[in-house]
Amino acid sequence: MKYCLIILHIVLLTGVSQAQNINVEKVFRRAGAQVSVMLDEVTNADTAGKVKLVSPRTYENGQLKMVQSRDWTSGFFPGILWYLYEYTKDDKWLSEAGKFTTKIEPEKTNTRTHDLGFMIGCSFGNGYRLTGRKDYEKVLIEAAQSLSKRFNPVTGVIKSWDHNSDKWQYPVIIDNMMNLELLFEATRLTGDSSFYKIAVSHANVTMKNHFRADYSSYHVVDYDPAIGSVKKKMTHQGYSDESAWARGQGWALYGYTMCYRETKNKAYLRQAENIAAFILKNKNLPRDMVPYWDFNDPAIPNVPRDVSAAAVISSALYELSAYSVNGADYKKMADQMLKSLSERYISKPGSNKGFILDHSTGHKPAGSEIDVPLIYADYYYLEALLRYKTYRQPK
Ligand code: GLY
Repeated sequence: MKYCLIILHIVLLTGVSQAQNINVEKVFRRAGAQVSVMLDEVTNADTAGKVKLVSPRTYENGQLKMVQSRDWTSGFFPGILWYLYEYTKDDKWLSEAGKFTTKIEPEKTNTRTHDLGFMIGCSFGNGYRLTGRKDYEKVLIEAAQSLSKRFNPVTGVIKSWDHNSDKWQYPVIIDNMMNLELLFEATRLTGDSSFYKIAVSHANVTMKNHFRADYSSYHVVDYDPAIGSVKKKMTHQGYSDESAWARGQGWALYGYTMCYRETKNKAYLRQAENIAAFILKNKNLPRDMVPYWDFNDPAIPNVPRDVSAAAVISSALYELSAYSVNGADYKKMADQMLKSLSERYISKPGSNKGFILDHSTGHKPAGSEIDVPLIYADYYYLEALLRYKTYRQPK
């Protein structure tokens, strides 16, 4: 009887049935084997051209695509190596993570994009968190200074892109929420609250202008930088201007959850809960919890999935579940997503040039990276697994 009560207590505490359990040890072993394949592939890749290629991004049309450090995805591979080190404590991963992190350093002075949080946060940020290295700390601060230069107090937001100036004047994309984490970190490291103030302003203005009544997010909002007003709301990577591009909803959910962690402002928590409701109660979310690439593509169900969106959403839900009264539900949904990814979307051992997951969609309207492995799907998948492993029921 006492034994039964203990089991019941464990089930109630964890909030999951046995069926949702994930064998993290096994999944990480498999991921490590894949990443070892990738390390060989990356080492053998033809990077002899004039342009310095530093990180893998995707495997498309039979080619491993490597990118320069200035590509928005350059930090994810070092980040994956840091997560493997975090889980295994194996010095092999520490050494590789350090090597690939260093390659991203030139971007600390890049003021031509908002993507510094992805590039520097995932590489140097994780490296600093796990090693406390002072040289990494300096890079993080310099990168935050560079990112801050893209903030305009008239609009109250950071400008995302400098390209395609024929289409927009001061574009801000929902993805930009992810880069605020670097600014919060910089305030912690320096005691200088200007980074924090920029992050909060960006989050507030984005909350006002980027969302529809159902809490789905536009992809791009274009501002008039002279007077700060909104000129246009549109998409770049989604199905249409009024559709809900799946990964964008993931960036929004993750971004506001992180902003709540950093500020404890309840408005961000409510925003994250509302975004979660849009995603999780959506009639177009498949039973296996891996979204189609856009929630509003009229050709659903005959359209590609986006595994990267599921990876971002599951990681965000684990964090949100620790803050929200709906936490048990979020945890259950995140477990289902992670289980689906681990069982149905995982690459066959040794295949896909070492990418861990398959079936992501990068930029469907441009006809590129459709139903392929993407490095950021692998990054957020490992992050979600670590969050699953260390998950503690909120007090
Ligand atoms: N941040 C670019 C993307 O999500 O595709």
